[in-house]
Amino acid sequence: MNRVFSGVQPTGNLHLGNYLGAIKNWVTMQAHYDCLYCIVDLHAITVPQDPKVLRAATREVAAGLIAAGIDAKSSIVFNQSQVKGHAALAWILNCQTPIGWLNRMTQFKEKAGKAREQAGLGLYAYPVLMAADILLYKATHVPVGEDQKQHLELARDIAGAFNRAYGSDCFPLPEPMILGAATRVMSLRDGTKKMSKSDSSDYSRINLTDDAATIALKIKKAKTDSEPIVSYEPERRPEAANLIDIYAALAGQTCEAVTAEYSNAGFAAFKRALADLAVEKLGPLAADMRRLMQHPDYIDEVLRAGAERASHIADRNLREVEDIVGFLKP
Ligand code: AMP
Ligand code: TRP
Repeated sequence: MNRVFSGVQPTGNLHLGNYLGAIKNWVTMQAHYDCLYCIVDLHAITVPQDPKVLRAATREVAAGLIAAGIDAKSSIVFNQSQVKGHAALAWILNCQTPIGWLNRMTQFKEKAGKAREQAGLGLYAYPVLMAADILLYKATHVPVGEDQKQHLELARDIAGAFNRAYGSDCFPLPEPMILGAATRVMSLRDGTKKMSKSDSSDYSRINLTDDAATIALKIKKAKTDSEPIVSYEPERRPEAANLIDIYAALAGQTCEAVTAEYSNAGFAAFKRALADLAVEKLGPLAADMRRLMQHPDYIDEVLRAGAERASHIADRNLREVEDIVGFLKP
């Protein structure tokens, strides 16, 4: 059986990168796989969080998933902390993970920065918790953006290490799925940095809650070089290439087709067309998301029901792992 698992952090400001790199693909997969989509609040607290803000962001991300077209009746949508198996399996997998593997993780190095000795143990163990998320459900396919590739390779290594240590074939090795024309959406202010929830400039990203006027303005103000023509040269013209990638992903076309279509029109006309396209595709999503966010009780009930369904699978698999490890039955 093929099962999809993916996760998104509840850190507010769901943006176009999350949508094109992840959520849009999650929506498509529902037709072909058994899917679990998890709002990873345990991962969120690896860096300081204000509890009020965390609660609001968890609901905001849930609203975003539903507004984007995730059907919470067929797919399982839930937040990680409600299913206790994630933390329990993470501990068992910690015991199979050499610290040398974790020392190679680039995201930890980026997040910890220079103050590495001050970084929390949770931030260091973040990729093991991510492996636990996936393996707890024996997921076979994991759709993510490019930035999560290294973590997924680690998850495969950890699954293999566990299987070998116990001579079992308990865990399937999960396949990363890095899909779409925009697996790495870059900042609108700097074509060498990825679009991110935590960028201090709101003009660097298009938030999924932005209204039509804001979306159009952010694209108009997006940094580009001074060349008036449309050409796709990611190395030499990263900002222009990023906008072409975004257009291609939103329109469901290839970058070549988009470049050819606008090659005579000039860059200013291309930007106007991109703004119209983005408003057309994202406007209804944003409106739906804002409407859902007016109903926190509804969202909480969706998450509660999702956690109940997820727990059925998680409890059974965790019991199997505990038995393999030699823990007594409760
Ligand atoms: P995060 O916001 O870091 O929890 O990411 C949630 C999902 O969105 C993951 O699958 C990421 O790979 C994806 N993602 C985040 N930022 C970007 C980006 N700038 N471009 C493409 N995908 C992204
Ligand atoms: N670390 C991922 C991110 O920041 C989120 C995540 C947590 C995840 N657990 C996961 C993604 C399991 C895929 C599968 O984007």
